[in-house]
Amino acid sequence: MTITDWLAAAEAALAASNAWRQPGLTDESPRREAQWLLRSLLGLTSAQILSRSEQVLSGSQLTELNAGLKRRCDGEPLAYIVGQAEFWSLPLRVTPATLIPRADTETLVEVALALFPDRERELQVVDLGCGSGAIALALKHERPHWQVTAVDACADALGVAIDNAQQLKLPLRCLQSNWLSALANERFDLIVSNPPYLAADDMHLPTLSYEPRTALVADMNGLGDYRRIISQAQAHLNEQGWLLLEHGAEQADAVRSLCQQAGLSNVQSWSDLSGQWRVSGGQHGVI
Ligand SMILES: C[S@@+](CC[C@H](N)C(=O)[O-])C[C@H]1O[C@@H](n2cnc3c(N)ncnc32)[C@H](O)[C@@H]1O
Repeated sequence: MTITDWLAAAEAALAASNAWRQPGLTDESPRREAQWLLRSLLGLTSAQILSRSEQVLSGSQLTELNAGLKRRCDGEPLAYIVGQAEFWSLPLRVTPATLIPRADTETLVEVALALFPDRERELQVVDLGCGSGAIALALKHERPHWQVTAVDACADALGVAIDNAQQLKLPLRCLQSNWLSALANERFDLIVSNPPYLAADDMHLPTLSYEPRTALVADMNGLGDYRRIISQAQAHLNEQGWLLLEHGAEQADAVRSLCQQAGLSNVQSWSDLSGQWRVSGGQHGVI
């Protein structure tokens, strides 16, 4: 079987399986997924796939490719099969201990960068619930002078964030912590978080069964972690510092109201490119 033959067969199998929608990708297609499997599992570039399209695959290559294809057709996210996902154009290692970073989360990064446009300013920043390190690493990539701390309650997820920071040569301070509890006397200019925010009975959960439930589900109908983070944040923000939280499209009112109750000022929400309110937050100490 040649590379071209395998790509055609894989594309047909993926399209028929209806499992090809990968969390995190917005422009996915069975063909793109088949190509991604081929590139990642055989270590080929897109140019090599084109130039070697008539190359006959060896028995061991076929075994590896077909095993990956079967896992994908059974519903496992592609990112876990190939062990990698892209966020903010950065290649990140992901494992079943980490959420697969979503393109939606780039809105939170864009809002943070827009609020602090000065590339030379040295800020203290913390990403709460860093998972693979996606948000923290994107911020460090764009603002090399920022001192970025990344925390997660899950030691395995934190290990992945540490690996990604080393691979990308983007230094982070990584700590295991239940939200801000390990940062007792520290204050930050910017606190960002994409915490778990699905309710335990959310209709999307069955399609997310490969991802860690502790990264997805929060008590109090999905608002429990917002309550905990927002109630702790004021004591950890510098004057004029911002707290920015990603949330579900229907949660903006609830998150803003929690920010207001906690005494944050300038409380507001930001929408993504499709017009959905996906980030809310407020500032410490300004009127
Ligand atoms: C929705 S995921 C976000 C991961 C990553 N920031 C991203 O955007 O791809 C939420 C993360 O919060 C972490 N988490 C859950 N409860 C936590 C807690 N009490 N303290 C710190 N991190 C927590 C989970 O382990 C998970 O990595």
